Amino acid sequence: MRRLTLPRYTPRLELRDFTRDDFDGILAYSSDPRVTRYLFFGPRDAERTAEYLDGLLASQRETPRSRFELAVVERDSERVIGACDLSRVERGVFDLGYMLSAAHWGRGYATEIARSLAEGAFLELRASRVISTVDVGNRASIRVLEKLGMRWEAVYRKHRRAKNRWWDCHLYVLPREVWEAEQVLRAAEPSPRSGPVS
Ligand SMILES: CC(C)(COP(=O)(O)OP(=O)(O)OC[C@H]1O[C@@H](n2cnc3c(N)ncnc32)[C@H](O)[C@@H]1OP(=O)(O)O)[C@@H](O)C(=O)NCCC(=O)NCCS
Repeated sequence: MRRLTLPRYTPRLELRDFTRDDFDGILAYSSDPRVTRYLFFGPRDAERTAEYLDGLLASQRETPRSRFELAVVERDSERVIGACDLSRVERGVFDLGYMLSAAHWGRGYATEIARSLAEGAFLELRASRVISTVDVGNRASIRVLEKLGMRWEAVYRKHRRAKNRWWDCHLYVLPREVWEAEQVLRAAEPSPRSGPVS
């Protein structure tokens, strides 16, 4: 059975399974309307957070596991600062998502998360495609997907009705071949220290 290696480490973050002890951390970011503005749910109160945590702890016990909803821990502070997820939507296709506490936006963290999850999806879960749907107004998230090398594929008008409105969403796709080509290019880039000495 294909498994995603956990925990995962990026230069500044640890991505690991949630535990019951993470309740306060989850409530802190997911009760913030700035964080949930472009998400179909929330903001969540304590009761909703408890239900959500129950559901995701149960999903950790599924076999085969089709949903990896993970805590994002800042390695320096050892604090839970958000969540990310990789969920199987059909054979070979995984959906990528992330959310961070507003105090931690703008530091490149989501880009680190997206790169790590894409690597896990392609190398460990043998994905053929990683996809993401994003509200058309969510500029920060769209930029993260573009930095990952994802390609815009479609716009779904009235993709979903949630929180008393219809949502128009972009579909972004990263095919395996595009991701592999990107890895080759990155590996061929001269490292910052290998340039000529002046
Ligand atoms: C989306 C989110 C995870 C991004 O996290 P982050 O760690 O700040 O992202 P990064 O720093 O890696 O990259 C953000 C990029 O978007 C850009 N950006 C941020 N706000 C922007 C805006 N309003 N318009 C255009 N670009 C914007 C940043 O400049 C950066 O690009 P750059 O590196 O080229 O300068 C964060 O904003 C968040 O948690 N939002 C709430 C939850 C959410 O919407 N999740 C996505 C659901 S699809």
